[in-house]
Amino acid sequence: ARLARAATIDDLRDQARRHTPRSVFDYTDGAADDESSLTRSRELYARAEFAGQVLNDIAAVDLSTTILGEQVSMPLVLGPTGFTRMMNHEGETAVAHEARRAQVAYSLSTMGTTPLERVAEVSGPNPHWFQLYLWQDRPASIELIERARESGYSALVVTVDTAVAGNRLRDVRNGLTIPPKLTPKTFLDMATHPGWWGNLLTTEPLEFASLSNWEGTVAEMINKMFDPSVTWDDVAWLRGMWPGKVVLKGIQSAEDAVRAFDLGVDAVLISQHGGRQIGRGRPPLRVLPEVREAVGGEREVFVDGGVMSGADVVAALAHGADSVWVGRAYLYGLMAGGHLGVRRALEIFRSEITRTMQLLGVSRIADLRPEYVRLPVDPTV
Ligand code: FNR
Repeated sequence: ARLARAATIDDLRDQARRHTPRSVFDYTDGAADDESSLTRSRELYARAEFAGQVLNDIAAVDLSTTILGEQVSMPLVLGPTGFTRMMNHEGETAVAHEARRAQVAYSLSTMGTTPLERVAEVSGPNPHWFQLYLWQDRPASIELIERARESGYSALVVTVDTAVAGNRLRDVRNGLTIPPKLTPKTFLDMATHPGWWGNLLTTEPLEFASLSNWEGTVAEMINKMFDPSVTWDDVAWLRGMWPGKVVLKGIQSAEDAVRAFDLGVDAVLISQHGGRQIGRGRPPLRVLPEVREAVGGEREVFVDGGVMSGADVVAALAHGADSVWVGRAYLYGLMAGGHLGVRRALEIFRSEITRTMQLLGVSRIADLRPEYVRLPVDPTV
């Protein structure tokens, strides 16, 4: 009943804040530096101006489409997020389960907290993709890729915007570690979030891909594990060795998008990691039309960052995105109420996308036009 009262993703966010320790909520909600990469992105979505057509028959709306050749019920993708079992003990399993139930794609993170084989099992025939960070320990990366291949992941989503850790100030100030440590401060938190702490301490430890006994900050982990010397040569290598689809996640310019397709990748995801990496990043929605123009209409182009409503999704679709990915939005649901919260987030998106399209006079995604969603003029051009 509580989840049903959440009318928007923002309502789920409020509930999430109440149900999780401050440092965990902040890890999810926060961004890098002054958080401008995220707030600018949110602002651009908020300032988009919608005007479509009237008197079109929009009685039957069809949101279904194919992404990377796979059939989905709507072009919303549940993006990769690390440490998902820290937000709620149900973790990646809950997300995969709800993705399958709703027939939307899910990309598991390299930094996931559930074995990838288990997530593949829960996903079954539903599209599930593996997000890859290349580690300094290349043999360990190769082993992970092999496991992903063997368990039937159809696409590799290679994240390229995390050569080093972004400066996420909330985490620095909260002293967040993985796994969260019991300190006098967190001890107090146990009284206000007994369920969360109970689950953390009684379910399996937050063990993931390669590190079993890690303890430290997220930034330390990234800077210790991830390979900052990765280049386009590594992308070419991955393209050659991975039999399925390859997506480059974290493309921030038309020039790099063209380069990616020249190397034979199947899709690019325009992203600045939800504002968690570079500060003052250009909003992905701003970059999207530039990429679309540079690569032409046939290439698959995805976008993410700051998407918190169905109207945001429609804005990106209208400007040429083939799918729109979300991170925080479903994590708020997960934190608010486990798998049922993820379900609620998906319901909210589906009804908002449908209604927005109807009010724009559009019943099929292919009929959305950029003119229906005007973006404010870029002050730099
Ligand atoms: C992320 N993101 C991310 N991306 C990735 O490639 N690998 C990862 O492990 C993670 N981990 C992660 C954790 C958390 C808590 C968040 C919020 C995000 C980035 C994610 O895939 C996506 O790019 C952003 O979340 C998109 O922005 P929104 O939808 O969160 O605003």
